[in-house]
Amino acid sequence: VEGARHDRMVTCEATLLLLLILTLMLMSWGWLAHQARARMQKDLPPGPAPLPLLGNLLQLQSGHLDRVLMELSSRWGPVFTVWLGPRPAVVLSGYAALRDALVLQADAFSGRGSMAVFERFTHGNGIVFSNGPRWRTLRNFALGALKEFGVGTSTIEERILEETACVLDEFQATMGAPFDPRRLLDNAVSNVICTVVFGKRYNYGDPEFLRLLDLFSDNFRIMSSRWGETYNMFPSFMDWIPGPHHRIFKNFQELRLFISEQIQWHRQSRQTGEPRDFIDCFLEQMDKEHQDPESHFQDETLVMTTHNLFFGGTETTSTTLRYGLLIMLKYPEVAAKVQEELDATVGRTRAPSLADRAHLPYTNAVLHEIQRFISVLPLGLPRALIRDVNLRNHFLHKGTFVIPLLVSAHRDPTQFKDPDHFNPTNFLDDQGEFQNNDAFMPFAPGKRMCLGAGLARSEIFLFLTAILQKFSLLPVGSPADIDLTPQCTGLGNVPPAFQLRLVAR
Ligand code: HEM
Repeated sequence: VEGARHDRMVTCEATLLLLLILTLMLMSWGWLAHQARARMQKDLPPGPAPLPLLGNLLQLQSGHLDRVLMELSSRWGPVFTVWLGPRPAVVLSGYAALRDALVLQADAFSGRGSMAVFERFTHGNGIVFSNGPRWRTLRNFALGALKEFGVGTSTIEERILEETACVLDEFQATMGAPFDPRRLLDNAVSNVICTVVFGKRYNYGDPEFLRLLDLFSDNFRIMSSRWGETYNMFPSFMDWIPGPHHRIFKNFQELRLFISEQIQWHRQSRQTGEPRDFIDCFLEQMDKEHQDPESHFQDETLVMTTHNLFFGGTETTSTTLRYGLLIMLKYPEVAAKVQEELDATVGRTRAPSLADRAHLPYTNAVLHEIQRFISVLPLGLPRALIRDVNLRNHFLHKGTFVIPLLVSAHRDPTQFKDPDHFNPTNFLDDQGEFQNNDAFMPFAPGKRMCLGAGLARSEIFLFLTAILQKFSLLPVGSPADIDLTPQCTGLGNVPPAFQLRLVAR
């Protein structure tokens, strides 16, 4: 009995000792983490004083986050800190700061900062919101696969031209009656990436597909509203508050279901060694790596990567086209000059092709100016530092959350002649030749640069020139009454809804 009691006491003492050691370890780990956070916060660039927990919420909740950040930059300089609720973010404002960071220290700034709305859906999977080796592997793989299916070659140009012809037919069928071009443009643009990713296009009247496109646009809108912004700052709190932000996740779920069904269909119908599209390519890679426990080619990754290409390849491009048409309605003299140049260089019998771009300096300047003026993703997507850096006399720690304020480069008076207005001469020299500008960065520069930039630019050129070649654009009402102010601005700049009339030229 005595021996058993002694054993129990020894076990008890050992357990206590272990608990003590564990507690001490946890405490010192917590203390070290706290010290690291404190050091990081001490070194943060200056910025407006934050309130406890709320951060700079009161300054930032104006519904025009991009404008507020640019105003703060005129007070705090090109590199400053704002607190998004309890989280600090370093803002890069103006062309020079963006270049010094994203171009000159491209590798250090190549991490992705997390956004709560996307984190809850992606869990850091896919290309857009992953980091480290997973990101690098998926990005390289996607670039290779897109190329294999024609992106960057004449194959995709032909596909865009086919789709352009289809959408022009739909426009023709409106017979000059007023209509909202949103759904048709969404459908046409999406069909281009759908051919690459799913191996097929969807008819313009297809109700199932139109529903998906509406989900994209609903999500882009909510994420660009105060609801989306506030969710990103206080996700746990907002989970309990009723509001439209809950729809984001329901919409994502529905999109996920559609993508999963597509993947299932591909699994059943594919022939090994004969990939038809991106999904087949990914499935082949999964087969190749199925014995590797470290492989990045997993079911969930395929869903997220497909979603990235599908969403990324649709919403920003079609928003740009829609905004472009609205701008052409507001400035009919600019549209007329583009049409004049198209008539003189391409004529009216054949569709404009990418080879014409070099011979259409005014048109090229107008298309650049549309992208500059609207800054469709005004804050880009957040970055995160993958190592410590020095930037313009600020020491920034690894892990710092960074907002690249792309719109600030587009509105930089040291880079553009007339930054605050829509003015194609921002991209023309004195001889009327097209003049590029490094401060033009709608796709963000550096290692995280938009993966679909080339595709998007081809689509913007081919769709808009084809529409202007074939139709006169007429507003409903007077051009002077058209308000170009975005309807929502946050993640994206969404143009106000509008109708137009198209009359064959
Ligand atoms: C006008 C159209 C578009 C604009 C303005 C745009 C803009 C952007 C921007 C600003 C980023 C963030 C880059 C960064 O963090 O540095 C991005 C990332 C991305 N975009 Fe686009 N994009 C457009 C079209 C497309 C298209 C057509 C695709 C589809 C192929 C696409 C796929 C992606 C992907 C996959 C990323 C993530 C890249 C990464 O994290 O490595 N985008 N885009």
